[in-house]
Amino acid sequence: MQVVRTISELRALRGAAAPLVGLVPTMGALHDGHLSLVRRAREECETVIGSLFVNPTQFGPNEDFSRYPRDEERDLGLFERDGTDIVFAPSVDEMYGGTPATTVTLGGIAERLEGAKRPGHFDGVATVVTKLFNIVQPDRAYFGQKDAQQLRVIRTFVRDLDIPVEVVGCPTVREPDGLALSSRNVYLDDDHRAQALSLSRGLDRATAALEDGVRDAETLRRLVLDEIEAQPLAEIDYVSLADSGSLEEFEGDVTGEVVLSMAVRFGATRLIDNVTLTS
Ligand code: PAJ
Repeated sequence: MQVVRTISELRALRGAAAPLVGLVPTMGALHDGHLSLVRRAREECETVIGSLFVNPTQFGPNEDFSRYPRDEERDLGLFERDGTDIVFAPSVDEMYGGTPATTVTLGGIAERLEGAKRPGHFDGVATVVTKLFNIVQPDRAYFGQKDAQQLRVIRTFVRDLDIPVEVVGCPTVREPDGLALSSRNVYLDDDHRAQALSLSRGLDRATAALEDGVRDAETLRRLVLDEIEAQPLAEIDYVSLADSGSLEEFEGDVTGEVVLSMAVRFGATRLIDNVTLTS
C-alpha cells in the first residue's frame, strides 16, 4: 500500500493504476462501516484508493473539527489490512492552499434536514468530494447509506455537473445491539450510549408498524419520537419521514420509497441514523 500526501504524487500513481479504480473517501477514525466500503471496492475494482482527510470546510464554527478523532497510524493499518492499494492523505494546505474562490453549492435537497441544522455543511462536503473526484478520477466511488442525505447530495451534484463517476451506496453497518457505527460514538459515555440505542429502536418500531399497515406519517414519526423522548439525556434535532427522492416531509399517508431519519444530541455528541422503507 502506498501513502501519498500531494495531488501530484496521487495523479502520477493514478495514471499508472489498473482500471477499474474505486475511491473510498473518509475522514478517518475508521470503523467497520468505513471498512465495509473498502471491502466492497476491493471486490469490484482493480485498484482501490482510500482518502483520509478531515475536511474543515464541512464543519460549522461550533462543531467538533478540532477534537474530531484522529489516529492516522491505526487508520493506515486498517486500510492496508482490507486491501487498499493507495491512501491519499493530504494536508489542509495541500487541499485548500492558494486562497480558493470556488465552492460547490446545492439548493433543494441539500437545504433540508442536516442542511437546515448545519448551514454550509453540504457545500463543504460537495466541494471536497468534487475535488477528490477531480484529483483521483475514479471510475466508482463508495459511500454509506448511514449518511442518507449526503449520499443523495453526492448523487445530485454528480448528475447535475455530469461528473463521470459511478456513485455506489452501501448499507449501514451496526453494532450487534443496533447502534449505527460512527466515528463519533467514541465520545459517548455509558449512559449516553445506552440511551442512544433509542434511535435504532425507534427505526425498528416504525419499520414494524409500516409492515403492519400503518401509513399515517405523523403516527409513524410519533413512534420514533416516543422512543427517543423517553431518554432523559436525548435532545432531538429532528425526526423526519420524507420522500426518498426529494426529502420532502410526508403529511398524511406515506407512499412509495420513504426515508425515516433523525439527528439527536447526547451532550456534545450529535448522532444521526436512518432507514429506507417502501410503503
Ligand atoms: P466519514 O464520516 O468518515 O464517512 C466516510 C464514509 O463512511 C461515508 O460514505 C459514510 O457514509 C460511511 N459510513 C460511516 N458510517 C457508516 C456505517 N455505520 N455504515 C456504512 N457506512 C458508513 O462522510 C464523510 O466521512 C465525509 O463527509 C466525506 C464524504 C469523506 C467528505 O469529507
